[in-house]
Amino acid sequence: MLGARGGWRALRRCPSSIFSSSSFSSSFSSFSSSSSLPREQRAPAVRLRVRQALGAREAAGEVQVQGWVRSIRSQKEILFLHINDGSSLESLQVVADPSMESRDLTFGSAVEVRGKLVKSPHKMQNMELKAESIRVVGPCDTLSFPLKAKERHPLEYIRQFPHLRCRSNALGALLRIRSEATAAIHSFFQDHGYVHIHTPIITSNDCEGAGELFQIETSNETQKSAEKNHFFNVPAFLTVSGQLHLEVMAGAFTHVFTFGPTFRAENSQSRRHLAEFYMVEAELSFTESLQDIMQVMEDLFKTATSTVFSRCPRDVELFHKYVAPAQKGRLEQMLKNKFVTISYNEAVEILKQASQTFAFKPEWGCDLQTEHEKYLVQHCGEVPVFVINYPYDLKPFYMRDNEDGPQRTVAAVDLLVPGIGELCGGSLREERLPFLQSRLQRLGLADTYQWYLDLRKFGSVPHGGFGMGFERYLQYILGVDNIKDVIPFPRFPHSCLL
Ligand code: 4AD
Ligand code: MG
Repeated sequence: MLGARGGWRALRRCPSSIFSSSSFSSSFSSFSSSSSLPREQRAPAVRLRVRQALGAREAAGEVQVQGWVRSIRSQKEILFLHINDGSSLESLQVVADPSMESRDLTFGSAVEVRGKLVKSPHKMQNMELKAESIRVVGPCDTLSFPLKAKERHPLEYIRQFPHLRCRSNALGALLRIRSEATAAIHSFFQDHGYVHIHTPIITSNDCEGAGELFQIETSNETQKSAEKNHFFNVPAFLTVSGQLHLEVMAGAFTHVFTFGPTFRAENSQSRRHLAEFYMVEAELSFTESLQDIMQVMEDLFKTATSTVFSRCPRDVELFHKYVAPAQKGRLEQMLKNKFVTISYNEAVEILKQASQTFAFKPEWGCDLQTEHEKYLVQHCGEVPVFVINYPYDLKPFYMRDNEDGPQRTVAAVDLLVPGIGELCGGSLREERLPFLQSRLQRLGLADTYQWYLDLRKFGSVPHGGFGMGFERYLQYILGVDNIKDVIPFPRFPHSCLL
């Protein structure tokens, strides 16, 4: 099977293609109208994905569509089916003779339909499939199947069935959006000349230094309680961030990014935390200004979002119609306006003057809590807000000292967004050897981070970068309240798969 882009090229090479532009693979770029011949002499049926069939510009004979039955309606003289194969939110209408009905042909069953693709007389759809045969490939016991025909299941309900929920409209749409968003993020960086780096998943680094690590051991090691021989001779963890590895690469490539799984043992049951999530991270060399980093964050966010909205409008519309009705207008507005920037100092002043009472009293030097982030975003008009220049003692060792005492700050930035709170975190990195050395010494980490100090000895340059939580990004653009509803599989401890 050709890759998506290869398939598109194959379609374009075929002048007789009846398809409208689509990014599908197709080894079936020619059609035959040989249905008058005996079946065994006919050319094999052209296999079409539902999205291709729906977007076809002309009728075609001898096609085959495979998928799952989303609805079935039997009338005296006609049988209507809707088939979905995950290629689009819309299903393909199949019109069949009632004699093709069978006990196994039910909602949820897997089918293969052969027939003619014809213009549909109905306004709601462009094409429909006139069935010549319907084969039930896999029946479905509708009584015990947790999804029901014609029901709009709430996200909380389908979360109980992590192995079946991808068959619902909502999760189907979400997973297509997730796939498009991944591609849009990669394209953004590739288009801007960044080199993609696969940073390690297993590492001995604790980048954020917050002790939220999952340690890894072989199963043998877990059995031996005393005198551990580590597999890698040193304790190893699942990565909490690819940043330090990206910084290594930023010593040779001026623009790098990574986009991979990230793990935090925070054990938070909140609606915006996961133990395993995806993070997009970028690192830029020869960058002295935090504003430059913030500009990349804003451009990435806006470009990826516009791309997703234009590439899967129907899927996005489902969320903006049924899950978060006011989100569309807010996002369109947001895409047109520049993000707001305030300093940490200003943020604390705004919080201190708030009429609202907070569970955590806002004080200079304290971390901003979720309630504070929410208030700041509201105060700024429910728009994305950059908060910059945080207290030195609050942030990890690698952040660049602003040397602005007595209330000393570092060149850090968090991007806060409505409904979520922190979406991105970044900073300028401390590129000056003496500053970094003394900070690591004070923390007792100088030995561990010798290699990191080396980066400051050999051709060190001002640089900085950021990380964006991919699931929080999806939550925000779609208006989804619970982060477990934007991942393919809700996981332990929320719901154990199988
Ligand atoms: O702010 P964080 O911890 O930043 C870093 O890890 C930096 N080293 C990134 C960098 O500069 N290269 O994490 C970045 C983002 C957060 O803003 C948040 O969106 C997301 O990752 N995130 C989580 N998302 C879901 N579940 C969790 N437990 C998350 N922890 C962080
Ligand atoms: Mg952070």
